[in-house]
Amino acid sequence: MTTPAATGNAHFLFRGPIEREFSMVSPSDKALSNKMWGGRFAEAPDAIMEEINASIGFDQRLYRQDIAGSKAHATMLEATGILTRDDRDAILSGLDQVLAEIEGGQFKFSRALEDIHMNVESRLREKIGDAAGRLHTARSRNDQVATDFRLYVRDYIDTLLGQIRSLQLALVTRAEEEAETILPGFTHLQNAQPVTFGHHLLAYVEMLGRDAGRLEDARKRLNENPLGSAALAGTPYPIDRHMTAAALGFDRPTANSLDAVSDRDFILETLAAAAICAMHLSRFAEEMVIWSSAQFGFIKLSDKFTTGSSIMPQKRNPDAAELVRAKIGRILGALNSLLVVMKGLPLAYSKDMQEDKEVAFDALDALSLSLAAMTGMVKDMQPNREKMHASASAGFSTATDVADWLVRELNIPFRDAHHITGQIVSLAEQKNCGLEGLTIEDFKLIDHRIDSRIHKVLTVEASVAARKSYGGTAPANVVEQAARWKSALTGETHVPRALKGRKHGTPGDGGVE
Ligand code: ARG
Repeated sequence: MTTPAATGNAHFLFRGPIEREFSMVSPSDKALSNKMWGGRFAEAPDAIMEEINASIGFDQRLYRQDIAGSKAHATMLEATGILTRDDRDAILSGLDQVLAEIEGGQFKFSRALEDIHMNVESRLREKIGDAAGRLHTARSRNDQVATDFRLYVRDYIDTLLGQIRSLQLALVTRAEEEAETILPGFTHLQNAQPVTFGHHLLAYVEMLGRDAGRLEDARKRLNENPLGSAALAGTPYPIDRHMTAAALGFDRPTANSLDAVSDRDFILETLAAAAICAMHLSRFAEEMVIWSSAQFGFIKLSDKFTTGSSIMPQKRNPDAAELVRAKIGRILGALNSLLVVMKGLPLAYSKDMQEDKEVAFDALDALSLSLAAMTGMVKDMQPNREKMHASASAGFSTATDVADWLVRELNIPFRDAHHITGQIVSLAEQKNCGLEGLTIEDFKLIDHRIDSRIHKVLTVEASVAARKSYGGTAPANVVEQAARWKSALTGETHVPRALKGRKHGTPGDGGVE
């Protein structure tokens, strides 16, 4: 997956100096604006018209993509004999100067010039004169903005894919360390069966793997070049759209000009993938909030990702996790908003579509920040293995193992075994002890066929070690899956880490091989 250097890294654009440079309209800008499209207009636009119409306040983020698109277009226009070599050279060097001005923070963005496309072209004209006016041959802002935005989203997808990978790697590293750590597994947020903390962390690695797959899919479909579709119908000039496609790293030109200028599927798909990813992060963030509470105490989040309270000195609030939990709101909102904007729009371009950018930028930034915050929290969090273990042992969490033992060793049908186990649990409840606190006499009281071998399956370590079915929680599976993921994520071969048999008992002593 290569990104043409010309389009740069979208993720960092919003931190650039350009947004601070936003300047309000000046009289000379107005004159220029009229030069772009105002031939038949006698009056300048109303101030309110200008305000509602302008997109420069947000689409200035597209400056790199806009300039890269213009350079590819000018190069193609010369190659196809539409532009002279001198004009092309002037345009290319002028565009480089404009790029340098924007990156250097000296560029003055003008609202009267509406958007990034006209801001760049107008400045080009100031620099190189009339040749700049030839750049817009065989294109329109409609195909220009479609091209710029596709390039931008493509770059952003690449950034997000890198971030997802970093989070996955952080999770896999922690999962290896915690392959044998016992965690209560919940259903309905009630103690269900013990699992390993490593297995739990790897569940998120799987989710993130699918998230990456969805973004890669969206990227594949978006990677077609709309440039040269012109306003809506194509152009009579003998342009070469394959050439601009190749120059901009697109796989091919789009095949239908009407579709090309009015399609926003590429951002909708990306937002849908982003929303699903944000939903995953939200679930994980919620677990972090729960786990880090005093009542659970399963993890301690680092100082770097928590805040204190100005009134309660003891507090360590999981603000970053809470904000990650919440970001899905604006990301899903963006998807919803753009779907509603697009619904019912006739072909081809309508100005409604300018509403695509702000929500998309906001959503992608939110996901990017969430991924970064989660990665930091995962790297820094400190598990409290004792607390996890104690909680996993509570609530008769190995009752299923007892039932399974009755099935396996005494050939009792599962339904009956379930019933007998229920009576065993009830007895333990009466005696106010855990299942491991019951004596063999206690067991025999419920069913005389039970013998002392049952004690082996009562520990949480035995319970997780026994779950070696493919995809199950056993420590041996965790180290294997972690090695598989590490190899997939790094492209290097990793072998499963040796189990330490540490802490509470030795996994594998369950006698249930
Ligand atoms: N700023 C516009 C947008 O974001 C660019 C396209 C304008 N096209 C037009 N026909 N006015 O959609």
